[in-house]
Amino acid sequence: MLTQTYGAPGDRSMLKNLWYVILPSSQLTNDLTAIRIVGQSFVAFRDEHGKACLLSDVCVHRGGSLSAGKKVGGSVQCPYHGWRFGADGRCTHIPAQPNLKIPIKARIDAYPTIERYGWIWAFLGDLPEDERPPLPILDWLSDDAVRTVSGHFDWESSWDRVIENGLDFAHAPFVHGSTFGDVNHPEIESFDVDSKEWSGSARMIMRRPARKGLLRRKSLSESVEVVTVPGFHLSGPCTTLELELPRGWRIYIVSAHVPLDANRTRTWWMMGRTFLRSPLLDRKFIVSNIRIFKQDHAVLKNVRPERVPDSWQQEVSLKSDALQISFRKRVQELEHRGWRIDELRLAQEFTGRKACAVPCPERRRIDSWAIEQIPVHPQE
Ligand code: FES
Ligand SMILES: [Fe+2]
Repeated sequence: MLTQTYGAPGDRSMLKNLWYVILPSSQLTNDLTAIRIVGQSFVAFRDEHGKACLLSDVCVHRGGSLSAGKKVGGSVQCPYHGWRFGADGRCTHIPAQPNLKIPIKARIDAYPTIERYGWIWAFLGDLPEDERPPLPILDWLSDDAVRTVSGHFDWESSWDRVIENGLDFAHAPFVHGSTFGDVNHPEIESFDVDSKEWSGSARMIMRRPARKGLLRRKSLSESVEVVTVPGFHLSGPCTTLELELPRGWRIYIVSAHVPLDANRTRTWWMMGRTFLRSPLLDRKFIVSNIRIFKQDHAVLKNVRPERVPDSWQQEVSLKSDALQISFRKRVQELEHRGWRIDELRLAQEFTGRKACAVPCPERRRIDSWAIEQIPVHPQE
């Protein structure tokens, strides 16, 4: 049995200094799009060169919501008094006083972005480029032999609960008995966790009901062995899954889990397959993946506590939960670096009279800002 206590009592939390998927590349236009991540509001758009940009949504003048404004050239124009902000977050124009030297504090946080794997990732934090964690490596997405479909799914659950669910295969026979789980074979053979700097994975053999053709009815009596490799990445929080089915058929899934708020998560997912690659079958694979998410959600939205508990003494964990435990430990390491958002202070101090923003890298260079940084737990 694995038991351990860590952290201060209270809330587990969302993290800054990670890469979060803001949108699929195909969905971001030149116009303004409102984005919510870690309980904060942002505005996304493409600049005149097509580069994806993400800014804090709060105008430093009188708090206008920039995403309700409009694009003027490469700038965002606030809907309230028309101040304009460039893609770097600096104010470029103040219509009421056009000849005024623009104050240094007239700037908002602007976040680094990378477009990769068909998604736009934004770095929500203040680390300089050489200290930022690397994005996950997902080789199968560039393999022509893999046919990929994608989508998103919204959970009424916290991001860490959703990630742990993606690493948990003991639930499959019970939650997914009508899809891929096999209630006659619930055992999890012992496995080792393969830990890397920003990720962890495990290789296990699962039994699934046999099917005549993957999309046909499953057999109630026969089962097949499926090599199953679940994993997680922390740098851009996501779970991955590789399945090796009989006949060498493979399935790959990546799910980027983005905390919208403390208890709401959006999962951007992509699923690749090396078989039945006709585009005519894409719909069936999308529907079956969403059905599986819905089965998970029906259970996950009711677990208590809503968040992964601070104290491991308040749960009973087994060796078959080792991959989730490994994930928790790694999150804890990041929390100790001072990356953990203090949700209690956020709720108490930053409602009503004070706004805040996730700090961007420019805050390390310039210390004159109108809007306070989102509160974090101190480094340990
Ligand atoms: S609040 Fe944005 S310009 Fe005044
Ligand atoms: Fe599941």
